[in-house]
Amino acid sequence: MGYYKIKNLEEYFKHYKKSIREPRKFWGKIAEENFIWYQAWDKVVDFNMGEADVKWFVNAKVNITKNCIDRHLAKRGDKTAIIFEPNNPDEKALHISYNELYSRVAKMANVLREQGIKKGDRVCIYLPMIPELAVAILACARIGAIHSVIFAGFSASAVTSRINDCECKMVITSDGGFRGNKSIDLKGIIDEALEKCPTVEKVLVAKRTNTTVNMEEGRDYWLQPLLDAAIPNNVAEIMDAEDPLFILYTSGSTGKPKGMLHTTAGYMVQTAYTFKNIFNHEENDVFWCTADIGWITGHSYILYGPLLNGATTIIFEGIPSYPDFGRFWEVIDKHKVTQFYTAPTAIRSLAKESDEWVDKYDLSTLKVIGSVGEPINEEAWHWYNDHVGKKKCPIVDTWWQTETGSIMISPVPFVTPTKPTYATLPLPGIQPVLMDELRNEIEGNQVVGSLCIKFPWPSMARTIWGDHQRYKDTYFSAFPGKYFTGDGALRDEVGYYRITGRVDDVVIVSGHNLGTAPIEDAINEHPAVAESAIVGFPHDIKGNALYGFIILKEIGEYRDRDNLTKEINEHVSSHIGPIAKLDKIQFVSGLPKTRSGKIMRRILRKIAEGDFSNFGDTSTLLNPEIVDEIKDERI
Ligand code: WTA
Repeated sequence: MGYYKIKNLEEYFKHYKKSIREPRKFWGKIAEENFIWYQAWDKVVDFNMGEADVKWFVNAKVNITKNCIDRHLAKRGDKTAIIFEPNNPDEKALHISYNELYSRVAKMANVLREQGIKKGDRVCIYLPMIPELAVAILACARIGAIHSVIFAGFSASAVTSRINDCECKMVITSDGGFRGNKSIDLKGIIDEALEKCPTVEKVLVAKRTNTTVNMEEGRDYWLQPLLDAAIPNNVAEIMDAEDPLFILYTSGSTGKPKGMLHTTAGYMVQTAYTFKNIFNHEENDVFWCTADIGWITGHSYILYGPLLNGATTIIFEGIPSYPDFGRFWEVIDKHKVTQFYTAPTAIRSLAKESDEWVDKYDLSTLKVIGSVGEPINEEAWHWYNDHVGKKKCPIVDTWWQTETGSIMISPVPFVTPTKPTYATLPLPGIQPVLMDELRNEIEGNQVVGSLCIKFPWPSMARTIWGDHQRYKDTYFSAFPGKYFTGDGALRDEVGYYRITGRVDDVVIVSGHNLGTAPIEDAINEHPAVAESAIVGFPHDIKGNALYGFIILKEIGEYRDRDNLTKEINEHVSSHIGPIAKLDKIQFVSGLPKTRSGKIMRRILRKIAEGDFSNFGDTSTLLNPEIVDEIKDERI
């Protein structure tokens, strides 16, 4: 018997024990029995956690797209691989079969090679949620180019810094993108971004909005004519297990975004395994994850995980509120979706609308519903369970991160009894531990601590692009020998985990990770600003929103505070993106600081939350009087 599918709770415990006692046998067997390899590995895993040095399936040779596409062709060639559901419900949905996906990816791979892209080159993909996005990613993987997808909501300067960080040679974008009743000028953003990107030689432009765009001679090419001229066959590059597959940027608690690097074989094995189990995937299912492919959730559970399992996966271009609040439920009804995977922020925003929206559609095809990206509060959990799952679909509350590559802690549906707001139990192979402030492992149950993982897992990020030291410092130094997640968690009386939230300076707003430092950096660049501190505070829909405490320079022309608030937010929007806008801005005359000059964010967080009960020890503050002033003027 293999370990690929967990059938019941007894088996879960059996697999779990095996995976801890003999991780090499456990993952080795899964890898051997469920994928095609050009060459097997010498060793399942080789690691030194202290050095943040991890390798899986050492010396094996593989191509992930052979596993996502080619091997399904004999049995599932005509099966739908991707359903494209456009932004506008009046536009026809597109069904792309595995055969068609093969030829599309082959053509795109040939175009990339013809345009000078080789194994190891970085390709930036800045596209809306259209089939070309999936095809471009897979084509990169086909020829061994490293894809760096940038969410198409990021501003030009955010794009510039990401392209320059990993020195992309090419950008794949589109004329524009649709989002609800808006259309976004993506090519214009790329043009602006590329003014400061010396490494980019070529830009391939897909057509989506049919808007007129600037095409720079010798640099920009329309994609379609190149594809039309390409051959629909392609020999995949033979990749080493540890060859880079992609870079994906995530916010850090210091200024620069971190380019998390994922490699080939380990990522492949664990995304496939988790998809199969956590969504209980069966052959005729239709899987829908509403994330954007620009985030890790989309990489792992719109594309790689589903395709590795020969599944049918939906790419949805739209938003939950367009043309009305029934849109998600209409799509489930229309495509007979069997698994639905979304974020708490979307659930909360739809739960506040009339229940008629969800009740009027047929959701009876659903079997499993999932949540990801932030803690799901009890109220949202129940609404999701009652109105979407109709109390018959297990909710998989899946905890994981860009860094972990795939799901780590989650119920296995029909196996693990669920509990509202709990991500429950670790997947086989995952060894979570809770740590106290003295860096000791906390044993037993009914305890809280910092969540760490003490043994490597196949899909973990291998490094931060170009900065291994930062990778080590950020994740492996707080608790030596262990991976520190940055999250706090509690373990209940039966050993279930509940993630309580970030313990660092990252705030999750509407499911997006935002480091407060880069936002502060952007604000501080405004000519009227002397200094700023950003903290998160609870928000009904977004989970958290941002509160800014800002010290102004003495500049007369900025006396109009309302205007200044607007200007600062525009500044944030153009430096980082609209998702980073502040909900509240308070102008202050000082910030609470320790004698060493560190801002006491703990106090600011309490003020932002409106909790004035206990500021803890303020004796180390250099300027304790400022606390009352800030508190009294809170907005
Ligand atoms: C948070 C998204 C509670 C957590 C896949 C983590 C969650 C961060 C959950 C990673 C969950 C994700 N319950 N919190 N089910 N899932 N988080 O990198 O703080 O965008 O560290 O990856 O989201 O966000 P990222």
